[in-house]
Amino acid sequence: MVWCRLSGLLAVAAVTSAAQFPLVQPNVKAQNIPGSGFGADQYDAGLFTPLGDFSTLSTDEFTTLGHPLFPNYNVRIKKSDFCDGTVGTYTGYIDVQARHLFFYFFESRNDPAKDDVIFWTNGGPGCSSSLGLFMELGPCRVTSPDNSTFNPYSWNANANIFFVDQPIGVGFSYAEYGETVSTTPEAAKDIAAFVAIFFEHFSQFKGRAFHMAGESYGGRYIPVFAAEVYDQNTKLVEAGLTPVNLSSVMIGNGCTDFATMVPSYYDMTCSPASVAPIMDISSCVRMKQAVPRCQEALQKSCVDRFDSMGCEAANLFCEVEISEPFFDTGYNPYDISKPCDGPISDTLCYPVTKAIGAYLDRPDVRKQIGVDGFVSANFSSCSNEVGAAFHAADDEIFPTQFYIGALLERGVRALIYVGANDWICNWVGNDRMLLDLEWTGQEAFVKESLTEWTVDGAAAGLTRNVGPLTFATIYGAGHMVPYDKPAESLELTKRWLAGKEL
Ligand SMILES: *[C@@H]1O[C@H](CO)[C@@H](O)[C@H](O)[C@H]1NC(C)=O
Ligand SMILES: *[C@@H]1O[C@H](CO)[C@@H](O)[C@H](O)[C@H]1NC(C)=O
Ligand SMILES: *[C@@H]1O[C@H](CO)[C@@H](O)[C@H](O)[C@H]1NC(C)=O
Repeated sequence: MVWCRLSGLLAVAAVTSAAQFPLVQPNVKAQNIPGSGFGADQYDAGLFTPLGDFSTLSTDEFTTLGHPLFPNYNVRIKKSDFCDGTVGTYTGYIDVQARHLFFYFFESRNDPAKDDVIFWTNGGPGCSSSLGLFMELGPCRVTSPDNSTFNPYSWNANANIFFVDQPIGVGFSYAEYGETVSTTPEAAKDIAAFVAIFFEHFSQFKGRAFHMAGESYGGRYIPVFAAEVYDQNTKLVEAGLTPVNLSSVMIGNGCTDFATMVPSYYDMTCSPASVAPIMDISSCVRMKQAVPRCQEALQKSCVDRFDSMGCEAANLFCEVEISEPFFDTGYNPYDISKPCDGPISDTLCYPVTKAIGAYLDRPDVRKQIGVDGFVSANFSSCSNEVGAAFHAADDEIFPTQFYIGALLERGVRALIYVGANDWICNWVGNDRMLLDLEWTGQEAFVKESLTEWTVDGAAAGLTRNVGPLTFATIYGAGHMVPYDKPAESLELTKRWLAGKEL
C-alpha cells in the first residue's frame, strides 16, 4: 500500500511471507546494477529503431525490445486489454539482467498522443502498486475476486499512466538469483533505467511532460527517484539521447521526513487537528511530555549526525511513547475517523485488499497480463521481506525533503497532498516539513496562509502555494485519497497537470 511503516509495529500488517518468494535469499547482499553502458561510443543510432507506438504489440505473447545503449536491459511488453476497456492497456516487465520489474500501462482516456505521462508507485516499503491501481486511482476497481467495475475518476482521465511493482521482491516483480534491494537510492537506479528505456522505445512519448507520483512511503521513494531521473538526464544528453521531461512530483500522504512526522502523532490524536481528540487525557498529557524528548533525541542522533545505535534508541522511545498508545485505541491508522475494519494484519483495515489479492491469483488474469511463472501463486499485497530489509537499513530515517528542495530549485514542481484524516503520514507533519523546507521560495511560502480550495463550489480542503510548491489537504479522506474522495482527487490531479493553482 499505502501505509508507511515508520514504526516496526506496522510490520505485522504485511500480508505475506518470505516463503512466497523462494528465489529471493535474504542474506545475499544487494548488487549494484552493472553499468548500463551509457556512452556515445557504444551507441549507433542506425542500429536501433524505436517501436514508436504500441499498435503492433500482441495480446498473446510478449514482444521483447532491446536497446544498444542499455545492453543489460530488455523490455517485454504485451497488449492486455483489461481493466479499462476504452483505452490501450499494456503490461510487462523491464528486465535488468536477472531482475524483473512488472508494470501496467494505461493510455489516457483523453488524448494519448498529447497527454502527460504519470508514473505511480505505492509505498510500504514493500507494497504493490496494484493496490493503487485496483483500489484507488486506476481505470477499474476490483470489487470481488471475480469482478471489477469501471472507475470514472481514474487518473488516466487525461494522462497516460504507469503502475510499477517495485522494488524487486514486490508484487509481480522478482529477481532470479537472490538479489534484494534494501534502500531507496538502490531502488532508484532501477526506476531511472526503467524510465529512460520506456521513453527511448516508445518514441511517441519522448519529451512529454512526466510526473512521478506516489503515496505513503512514496514520500521517500518519489523525491529520490525523481532526483535520479533528473541527474540521469545529464548522461542521456551526453549520449545524444532526449532527456526525460521531468515536470513534477506528486506525493499523497507521504512520509518524507520522519523527524517532523513522528512528533505530529501527538497533534493527530490529542488535538482537533482533523477529528476531535481520540485519546484519553492522561495518555495525552504523558505524550505531550514525551514529544520534546523524542524530538531532541531524533535531532541529536538521527538528524544532526547519524548514529545508528542512538537513532534506533531514539526511535524506540518515540514509538513506545507516541505511536503505541494510538495503536491500542483500535482506530484505523490510515483514517482516524473510524475503527480498523478487520484485524490490520489480515485486511490492512480495508477488506477489499483481500479481494484484490484473490483477483490477482486468478490464472486467467495472470495469463492476460503476462505474469511470469517464476512468481508465487499467492499474491502478496506487501512483502514483509522487503519491508524488513528497508527497516534494517534504516532507510526511513532520512531527511528526504532535501531532495524536494533540490528539485524545486531546478524547476521541478512539487505537489504534496494529504487526506486530512490520516494518522500514519498525516497532514500536520507534512505541513511542518514544508514550512521548515529550505529553498528559494521558503520565505514566501511560510507567509502564505492556508486557504480553502473547492470542487464544484464545495470546500474540498486547505491549500498553500508558492511558485512550484503546492500543499493541499483533502477533507474527509484518509491515507488513500483517491479511494475516499475520487472526484476531488481527480480534480486535484487535473488542475495540477494543467499547471493551475488549486
Ligand atoms: C460486477 O459488478 C457490477 C457492478 O457492481 C454488477 O453490475 C455485475 O453484475 C457484477 N458481475 C458479476 C459477475 O458479479
Ligand atoms: C516539457 O513539458 C512541458 C509541459 O508540457 C512543455 O511545455 C515543454 O515544452 C516540454 N519540454 C520539452 C523539452 O519537450
Ligand atoms: C497459497 O495459499 C493457499 C491458501 O491460503 C495455501 O494453501 C497454499 O499453501 C499457499 N501456497 C504457497 C506457495 O504459499
